[in-house]
Amino acid sequence: MSTSTMNVTVTGAGGQIGYALLFRIASGDLLGPTTPVNLTLLEIPSGRKAAEGTVLELQDCAFPLLRSVTVTEDPVRAFDGANIALLVGSKPRAVGMERVALLESNGRIFGPAGAALNAGAASDVRVLVVGNPVNTNALVASAFAPDIPVDRFTAMTRLDHNRGVAQLAVRLQIPVAEIDGLTIWGNHSASQYPDVFHATAGGRPVSELVGEDWLAGEFIPRVANRGYEIIQARGASSVASAANAVIDHVHDWVNGTGDRWTSAGIMSDGSYGVPAGIVSSFPVRSVDGRWQIVPDLAINAFSRARIDASVAELLDERDAIRALGLLPAGR
Ligand code: NAD
Ligand code: LMR
Repeated sequence: MSTSTMNVTVTGAGGQIGYALLFRIASGDLLGPTTPVNLTLLEIPSGRKAAEGTVLELQDCAFPLLRSVTVTEDPVRAFDGANIALLVGSKPRAVGMERVALLESNGRIFGPAGAALNAGAASDVRVLVVGNPVNTNALVASAFAPDIPVDRFTAMTRLDHNRGVAQLAVRLQIPVAEIDGLTIWGNHSASQYPDVFHATAGGRPVSELVGEDWLAGEFIPRVANRGYEIIQARGASSVASAANAVIDHVHDWVNGTGDRWTSAGIMSDGSYGVPAGIVSSFPVRSVDGRWQIVPDLAINAFSRARIDASVAELLDERDAIRALGLLPAGR
């Protein structure tokens, strides 16, 4: 693990996820117990005071790894030298909304964020988009950052992945650590496809332990609609579990996954019939600091139809932001 100080930028740091996330970054959960951190918090004017209040609390924790905290409203300053950029700042959906309803208003945030990253982020920057709709916002940010390799831009589907693992563990009555090989495919939306056909539970194939009726009737809709279930229960969208998924995603990206795999929204290279140039969730391993798509998985007809449906939605979202003029000319 690194002992060099890392620059971590969090946008929307004065919001709910920001509050749940910052203390875990500062305590070492994100990058490990030997990596000091400079935190930069980007906010808009209405969120600035909340961010500044959180800075007071961060100081009061006397975290040994926290070297500095800066609050700014200037995206270029916020991303200058950033090694890790967590793009949270954006509106959450409310009861009764689908995430795609945020496409236009939130989409407008991610072009300027991409341009500001392009202007001065560190050459090894890793970007995680948390603001919804994540896949398409990551596409927008990347499109405005032509000098940053596209594999540095990711969209968060780790929360969906964790939700799927937890549901399987409950159903099969085994510890979560014994589940491996689950995949979230496609969009972080109700069309996402949580695929268990390569998953194992304690070394046994999950598909032999659960029936297709449970998969189609309970597991898939439960995982795909969990965000909505939480909004209905809390009156607000997920916060601590979302922050936890940010920690898991970045920690694995930086430190590697070993033989296990997880799910992340990454730029498609055309694998598994997902058209190149859209950000889709895939089964991934982190090897030498880069996400790699798990190769050569057999995709059955049940899975194919569901992956294709979610990918079709991603293509529609891309066409919609293109029509709104939120992608650079020619993209
Ligand atoms: P929130 O409203 O509590 O906080 C958002 C913060 O972003 C606010 O403080 C606001 O001032 C700030 N903000 C708005 N525009 C900004 C901009 N242009 N630059 C910088 N900051 C800006 O919302 P939240 O609960 O923290 O959720 C944030 C986002 O995360 C939402 O889009 C939500 O849907 C999404 N989310 C994603 C997942 C996932 O699994 N991918 C999970 C939970 C929430
Ligand atoms: C989630 O999955 O919990 C988040 O994307 C928030 C939401 O709008 O569902």
